[in-house]
Amino acid sequence: MKEIAVIGFGVVGGGVVSLVDENQERIAQTAGDAVHVKYILDLRDFPDSPYADRVIHDVDTIMNDPEIALVVETMGGVHPALEFSTAALKAGKHVITSNKELVAKHGAELMRLADENGVAYLYEASVGGGIPLIRSIRTSLATDRVDAINGILNGTTNYILTRMRDGGISFDEALAEAQELGYAEKDPSADIHGFDAQRKIMILAAVATGYIADENDVYAETMSKLTTADMDAAKRLGGAVRLIGSFKREADGVSVFVCPRIVPGKNPLAHVDDVYNAASVAAALTGDVMYYGRGAGRYPTAGAVISDVAAALNGSYRTESVRTWENSPAGFVKKFADSKNRMYVRVSGASVQEVMDAAHLVFGDVAAVPGTPAGVSEFVTSLMTERQLSEGLSSLPGKVESALRILD
Ligand code: HSE
Repeated sequence: MKEIAVIGFGVVGGGVVSLVDENQERIAQTAGDAVHVKYILDLRDFPDSPYADRVIHDVDTIMNDPEIALVVETMGGVHPALEFSTAALKAGKHVITSNKELVAKHGAELMRLADENGVAYLYEASVGGGIPLIRSIRTSLATDRVDAINGILNGTTNYILTRMRDGGISFDEALAEAQELGYAEKDPSADIHGFDAQRKIMILAAVATGYIADENDVYAETMSKLTTADMDAAKRLGGAVRLIGSFKREADGVSVFVCPRIVPGKNPLAHVDDVYNAASVAAALTGDVMYYGRGAGRYPTAGAVISDVAAALNGSYRTESVRTWENSPAGFVKKFADSKNRMYVRVSGASVQEVMDAAHLVFGDVAAVPGTPAGVSEFVTSLMTERQLSEGLSSLPGKVESALRILD
């Protein structure tokens, strides 16, 4: 019997405790031993929970108990999750986490500490919820080379974008709906401003390369300024707007960034709706691999945690690739200004003639957009650097209503 502790008895932590209870036989088969939750650490008491007698408030009870082989950290945030994870690893306990902020910011040091202490620090649940994505890259694609990843990595914003397109409702209305349905956090800023997806694409890029980027080097753009006119433009271009986290190996470094993009209809990511997540992984030998599933929620995320619990306890994590990360050296992540993109642009407050003349002058060849509504001008640029794009946008006449990158 392996005794474990769960730190943080919220949606995911609660899911882990009940899944361990309900799936004992299957977990024992995979983990190589029966698993039992001995302690649940939380600030709160849960008198009505069937697990009330396991709830404790002093983390040292866990750290000082030699019976505890593994700690599940589902509390979120950096502090005190970092201190608790550090203490557990130093005490020779495996740590399994769903905490993407902690993994993105301190994953490299925690993985190193785990290695030094002969235990695992695993984080499958930190990206894509229930999608078996990270382990797949670290095992099935380990002998290949992941060259690019484009992902819809945030369920809340994907729900908002789906509702804006299908329901013709504004960003604020769609966000309120998402909050009512319990998808969005009370404070949804990390979701809508792209920080949640930023952390997740940083983690995926690190799984692919072994280097974790500094978040200051990873451009993240809010999706809160999108309008129904953008959804309509994307539809006329044969695609859909999605918040995309991108990683790509290029000759002069890797590019890693997050922004809303028009995804052409031929790309499966354009058809990922509601709270679903997906990631398209381009591997050198295998080619494109598509992952799709529930990116959030109690049981999908708890299921991913439990798969890590099993991998830690049965020791199979030792044969997975990229067990530790290095902090990325300066210049490893290309400057966003040097990234090349095509851009859809919509301008108001100047005549179509004036806008298109200026567009040709500053962007060279531009493509027309079918069905442009009266009162605005629209065009799509060719591929050029972000530096050229932003200089071009600032010299257009009228008001730039929208400038959205296209996922090629
Ligand atoms: N807020 C996140 C999302 C939760 O909406 O995707 C899962 O990480």
